[in-house]
Amino acid sequence: MNDSPLPTPDSPTPRHIAIIMDGNGRWAKARHRPRSIGHRAGARAVNICIDACLEKGVQALTLFAFSSENWRRPAEEVGALMQLFLRALDREVDELHRRGVRIRFIGERSAFSPDIQTRMARAETLTAGNRQLTLCIAANYGGRWDIVQAARAAAHEVLAGRLAPDDIDEARLGSFFSLHDLPEPDLFIRTGGDLRISNFLLWQLAYCELYFTEVLWPDFDRAALHLALKDFARRERRFGMISEQLAQESPA
Ligand code: FPP
Repeated sequence: MNDSPLPTPDSPTPRHIAIIMDGNGRWAKARHRPRSIGHRAGARAVNICIDACLEKGVQALTLFAFSSENWRRPAEEVGALMQLFLRALDREVDELHRRGVRIRFIGERSAFSPDIQTRMARAETLTAGNRQLTLCIAANYGGRWDIVQAARAAAHEVLAGRLAPDDIDEARLGSFFSLHDLPEPDLFIRTGGDLRISNFLLWQLAYCELYFTEVLWPDFDRAALHLALKDFARRERRFGMISEQLAQESPA
């Protein structure tokens, strides 16, 4: 039997949205500007998206800001992104805190500079008690990394005698994953036209509705988000059941 907690099948507004913010580079290229300008425009789109989630009562928003593979980009672009993160952490955190946003980072943060790590920790501590929206920034994150770190954590529990190998089921293993204490993502959005998950939340997206749009991330505004939400509201989420069973569970 599958005893992992499943999302409820009937919510018209996603409780948790996960986004791959793709297309910053192409947006800049179309304007004959350096890629870093695209990332800056992308940061503005992040703010618009946070505003809309607060307005709609979305509980959690997870953004793929920097993948474990993004270190392979030209040093100049990686440097510009790091500067952008530092500036955002300096400029935006207090305002997000004032608005009740809890900030979290997921991913292997030891690869970031001490400056960035200190600011990440400060942002998390400052906003830990907030409940309006949980904003998770995936930074140096990879879905396979998450699986490995969860398996490693479970192995340590076994070694310490706190967990029996036969007691490892989906729910127990799931408790070692990033975001385990949040509702599972209901809606995944990828901008920029590619139809890939790109090593994002591999475990957590098992039952998620996938939405792909050609819109480049810097152009992803309220109207674009509303289109995604409208599309989500039309989906029938069956979680392995059939339509008739769903109708019995939640009579209209
Ligand atoms: C993908 O576009 C985007 C990124 C690798 C970086 C995302 C970062 C931001 C939106 C900046 C601000 C974020 C925060 C959380 C402050 P791409 O460069 O791969 O675009 P392309 O596919 O057109 O080349």
